[in-house]
Amino acid sequence: MLLVVILHHLDIQWHNINIMKIKEIYDTMAYGPAPENADEAIQFLESHKRSFKLFINGKWTAASSGESFKTINPSTKEHLANISEGNEADVNKAVAAAKKALPEWVKIGAHQRARYLYALARQIQKHSRLFAVLESLDNGKPIRETRDIDIPIVVRHFYHHAGWAQLRDTELKEYKEVGVIGQIIPWNFPLMMLSWKIAPAIAMGNTIVLKPAEFTSLTALLFAEICQQIGLPNGVVNIVTGHGKTGAALVDHKDVNKIAFTGSTEVGKIIRRATAGSGKKLSLELGGKSPFIVFEDADLDSVVEGVVDAIWFNQGQVCCAGSRLLVQESVADKLYKKIRARMETLRIGNALDKGIDIGAIVDSVQLKVIKDLVKLGVDEGSTLNQPSWKCPTEGYFYPPTLFTDVSPSSTIAQEEIFGPVLVAMRFRSHKEAVKLANNTRYGLACSIWTENINLALDIAPQIKAGTAWINCTNVFDAAAGFGGYRESGFGREGGREGLMEYLKPRINDAFSDKPQINLGKAIKATNGQMKQQTGIDRTTKMYIGGKQARPDGGYSTIINSINGTYVGEVSKGNRKDIRNAVEAAHSCNKWENNTGHGRAQVLYYLAENLAIRREEFADRLVQMTNQTKSEATKEVDLSIERIYTYAALADKYDGKVHHTIHRNVTLAMPESIGVMGIVCPDEAPLLGFISAVIPAITMGNNVVVIPSEKMPFSATDFYQILETSDVPGGTVNIVTGHKNELAQVLAKHDDVDGIWYFGSKEGCKDMELLSADNMKRTWVNYGKYRNWQDKAQGEGEEFLKHASQIKNIWIPYGA
Ligand code: NAI
Ligand code: MG
Repeated sequence: MLLVVILHHLDIQWHNINIMKIKEIYDTMAYGPAPENADEAIQFLESHKRSFKLFINGKWTAASSGESFKTINPSTKEHLANISEGNEADVNKAVAAAKKALPEWVKIGAHQRARYLYALARQIQKHSRLFAVLESLDNGKPIRETRDIDIPIVVRHFYHHAGWAQLRDTELKEYKEVGVIGQIIPWNFPLMMLSWKIAPAIAMGNTIVLKPAEFTSLTALLFAEICQQIGLPNGVVNIVTGHGKTGAALVDHKDVNKIAFTGSTEVGKIIRRATAGSGKKLSLELGGKSPFIVFEDADLDSVVEGVVDAIWFNQGQVCCAGSRLLVQESVADKLYKKIRARMETLRIGNALDKGIDIGAIVDSVQLKVIKDLVKLGVDEGSTLNQPSWKCPTEGYFYPPTLFTDVSPSSTIAQEEIFGPVLVAMRFRSHKEAVKLANNTRYGLACSIWTENINLALDIAPQIKAGTAWINCTNVFDAAAGFGGYRESGFGREGGREGLMEYLKPRINDAFSDKPQINLGKAIKATNGQMKQQTGIDRTTKMYIGGKQARPDGGYSTIINSINGTYVGEVSKGNRKDIRNAVEAAHSCNKWENNTGHGRAQVLYYLAENLAIRREEFADRLVQMTNQTKSEATKEVDLSIERIYTYAALADKYDGKVHHTIHRNVTLAMPESIGVMGIVCPDEAPLLGFISAVIPAITMGNNVVVIPSEKMPFSATDFYQILETSDVPGGTVNIVTGHKNELAQVLAKHDDVDGIWYFGSKEGCKDMELLSADNMKRTWVNYGKYRNWQDKAQGEGEEFLKHASQIKNIWIPYGA
């Protein structure tokens, strides 16, 4: 009996234990590990004896220095392989191989290149799991992400660009390849960044040297094998591993025609300065502190999942991470509560575990950066929220983190943390949301959450960022451009605009090494005769904020004609005048907010008023250049015609609707750059001025113009036309004086967003160098000169392209 009782008692206990376990499992929702098999990836490492060479001219080549460094698995800190440290000599070899391969790669034509790109897409697709596993091993990002996001996007890029390769000679026939391209990529999306760089570059007929990031070279090296497998011609793709110094050698190489860089803003600025004046084309995809804006009518449960994607995808090591959560006051506490609850359920662990949400931080260095910034956030008085669970200790892990009570000026609200750390701020009105969102030096992306489509589409154009995601975040596709405003860099990757980074207009080959000035020899007039002839004799002022302005310094400069005859006097502007002009340009938003049609009307009106004063403008040209009256009249007529061209284009140079692969439509909308400095050419005093200023304002920019230093009067006369043609005050500001001195002030000015410079080689270098501080968009002529009289060189969409930047707006669409 006793035995029965005891047994019965034990049974009940056992039963209870089982029930407890099940209950516990329900409570914790703890899963067992579900590791992905890494055998094939290990086999790949072993096939290179865990020691990788450089991939140059289609062959594995030992690094000249014999030096190497280790790459590790950040989930376990285990050593994965040794990677070669490429030096200058290796970079020279790789660039030479790319240069040698270039002519043949161009010659084989669009269709053959398309076949190679297609083969690359197919081959990566066939080995997609190997790539996914290797990427997760080397970088620490969850296999779920590499398998379902990274590698599919890579494949998509090669397919999409196989298409562009095929179409290059028909759709893009006015353009040609740039040449040898140096590409430098970061560690956060190693293979994805490789595909965004390599696919468009080789599709357009360029050859490349790519330097992977030092933490994550492995998938690039596996890609090299894929190139061999499909028989890609030697030298078309070269891969040189190494650290920043290796990248710098690539940047400095004289035979590299373009640098495409993704990484930190700090290094982006170094590269901008290093390439200044070299004529190398440059695209920079840099950091961000992207706002994730939640309005009170948003679906908060969707928002929570959006937040997970925005800041915990890839451990927050995402350049466009929605790292600043801006929430409307009325729902802030409710949302924070939901986010905290969701943080609690996120699972962190080894990247190869199929059941985890958050993997490892790429390296101890990055982990320290995150920890230091979080500590600073706490010290600065923000409230730290983290889940109650602890991170595994064997790798470099950091928990999902939310900061509340953050002041907009605190370090964590301004600096890119590049980790799983979200900083939250509240706003009351829509206006305040926009202001907070734009309170950053960056401008990569923004995410807008509301159930009101009107509100979303009202806010999207007001945020200064290259991508706007509406009720979604971190979605990418090869068919849509991606890239930044402001200090997030310039240039786009993906879409038609991404191709432009790897092309140059064929017409550029027609530019000459000397300015083509249309100077007359016919008239040799004396001062008196000239004054009598034209009846023009006065000192011109500058034009700022819609008003004639005396120079701050109180100086004027005498201007003589080409033949040395006196023409008149012009105000000598200084840095204060430039500052006033920039301020005036900033205070006017009427022009930017006008429609294309509205701007076209004003431009036609400008042309009409210039036509009325045709004689007077021709006389002025005669006076300055001593060309014949008929030649001068021709320049005025061409100027009128040019204004017509841009008036015509003002409502036609519009965007595109991209059919991206998600349930979205993506609107690619050209927007103005903002305040632009325009430094006019010295040749063709009127036509040069018109050719530079009119396209810039056509796109809605406000401009500060420095006219030709030697022949400024056509520009200063023009303000009378501006005054009578409904151009808002502040849209065109004209500051006369020493061209290069004034241009330097403009290039350094932090409130100028873009600058065009037509002039000397040294001047071009100065512009690119000085503009690096706030990452202005620059367009310079590198000492090459256009024939402004020639329509093919002097006008067209190329000008509008440089006067605008494209914002891609992702809108949910379809089922
Ligand atoms: P980084 O900008 O230093 O590195 C990016 C790439 O540039 C790497 O391949 C590197 O070797 C190379 N590089 C470094 N110095 C160079 C130089 N002087 N010339 C040419 N190439 C050079 O970025 P890092 O050190 O990996 O990360 C530092 C911070 O940068 C991160 O904490 C994060 O805030 C940010 N970052 C931003 C990325 C983005 O996509 N916007 C990507 C990676 C990092
Ligand atoms: Mg690694």
